[in-house]
Amino acid sequence: MPDSYLSFANSRFGAFLTSKLGLPRPYPLQRFRSHKPVLEGEVLIGAGPQHALLHPLVSAVSSMNVNTLAHDSVPQWVALANSAGMMSGRWSVGDAPGTRVAALVFDATGLSRVEEAESLFRFLHQSLRSVRLSGRVLLLSRPPEVCDSAEHATVQRALEGLMRSVAKEARRGIAVQLVQLAEGAESTLEGALRFLLSPRSAYVSGQVIRLGMPQAQAFPDLDWQRPLAGRTLLVTGASRGIGESIAEVLARDGAQLVCLDVPQAEPALTKVAARLGARAVSLDIAEPQAPSAIADLALEMGGWDGVIHNAGITRDRTIARMRPERWQQVVAVNLQAPIRINEALLNAQALKSGATVVCLSSISGIAGNAGQGNYAFSKAGLIGLVQGQAQAFAQRSMTINAVAPGFIETTMTAAIPFAIREAGRRMNSMSQGGQPVDVAEAVAWLASPAAAGVNGQVLRVCGQNLLGA
Ligand SMILES: NC(=O)c1ccc[n+]([C@@H]2O[C@H](COP(=O)([O-])OP(=O)(O)OC[C@H]3O[C@@H](n4cnc5c(N)ncnc54)[C@H](O)[C@@H]3O)[C@@H](O)[C@H]2O)c1
Repeated sequence: MPDSYLSFANSRFGAFLTSKLGLPRPYPLQRFRSHKPVLEGEVLIGAGPQHALLHPLVSAVSSMNVNTLAHDSVPQWVALANSAGMMSGRWSVGDAPGTRVAALVFDATGLSRVEEAESLFRFLHQSLRSVRLSGRVLLLSRPPEVCDSAEHATVQRALEGLMRSVAKEARRGIAVQLVQLAEGAESTLEGALRFLLSPRSAYVSGQVIRLGMPQAQAFPDLDWQRPLAGRTLLVTGASRGIGESIAEVLARDGAQLVCLDVPQAEPALTKVAARLGARAVSLDIAEPQAPSAIADLALEMGGWDGVIHNAGITRDRTIARMRPERWQQVVAVNLQAPIRINEALLNAQALKSGATVVCLSSISGIAGNAGQGNYAFSKAGLIGLVQGQAQAFAQRSMTINAVAPGFIETTMTAAIPFAIREAGRRMNSMSQGGQPVDVAEAVAWLASPAAAGVNGQVLRVCGQNLLGA
């Protein structure tokens, strides 16, 4: 359903009126287009004392062909970038702000004393207003629990509150994230930057993204235009909505697909599969024999490189009014089926080394939602599943993660009554709903070797929705 308020707020009269009345102003978000650079414009680099990531950062941005500028906090960046063959200069001299930039990246790994965080404050204070529409702000940090002093851990944890506040203040479609990079996991930085700096992450904001040791082989030869080339993936619920969009984006990124949906959806599923050169499978995943049928198919095809557990249903009622069948149906499709399918695939050794499993959770599973006890149980359960299975997956050089969408413009949300729909759309830092493609881009990243350091995590695609924040 088109968001007519977004169009109105971006008309001349609408922009005037929304600013006079103090109404939210949603900006049209920039989305990914193939063969465009990772980001258009320059990245302003800053760093605190004892920064640890300038070298991995310079090699990542030079591989991405991104131009950078050095903030006063890190004048040595210019020489470092030049030695890597990149053009770079100082962003500003003295107090006057420099030119507009596409993104800010600050290496905060070395901030180990509270007073040192002032360098980050100054960086953001001087440069935040210079970030262009749909720009990015990334803070690079360390996981607090592995810091060598209590004060280092304190400051690294404090960055989370700052990042979430800046994400709420930035507006203008700007997305802000905190990347927590474990020592030794530097090879995973480029894959994360390629997602977080690009329009692929248009509706991801206010998130903490943890990069640990890569579970699969590093990716020196990865084709960044087609990071899923040579991989075969199953997408459940692929005939429409978010599942269809996931299938499209995975195919665009080079994956060979198996698209599955219920037998009633066969006509739509066949069309999607034909368009994407995929294999269509009509099967109800809640049927008792479905997991073994899926594992048999995977073996017959020589093993798969991953599964996207997207199929899901809602049967809303308050707990007091909910009939037992409604509870059972939702739990069977949304939670039991992914558990059993994973079990069957792992037991049959039908997933290859480097495989990636992604589950579609929901912010309902994080925040809870009146009338959705069954759904929230199932979606929170998926978070438990990825957290509980992460170690076992890592031992097999595989990853398992979840994506938790917020308000996404689909037929499901178009059916919500007007007033509640409008509230849902605006209750986030982007002041708009996300598109199915936003969820699909996050899934595609987690399904690719570019996210090799991400395991057992939940990535919210919610525009920093206030629910459960
Ligand atoms: N739309 C949103 O705003 C939103 C928000 C958060 C999470 N999600 C989650 O994203 C996923 C996709 O949502 P959507 O809005 O595209 O829903 P949708 O209803 O449009 O699509 C779900 C698909 O799953 C299929 N499916 C349902 N039961 C199945 C079964 N037993 N076996 C095989 N396939 C089955 C359906 O036929 C359908 O094609 C769901 O898991 C949903 O819970 C959606």
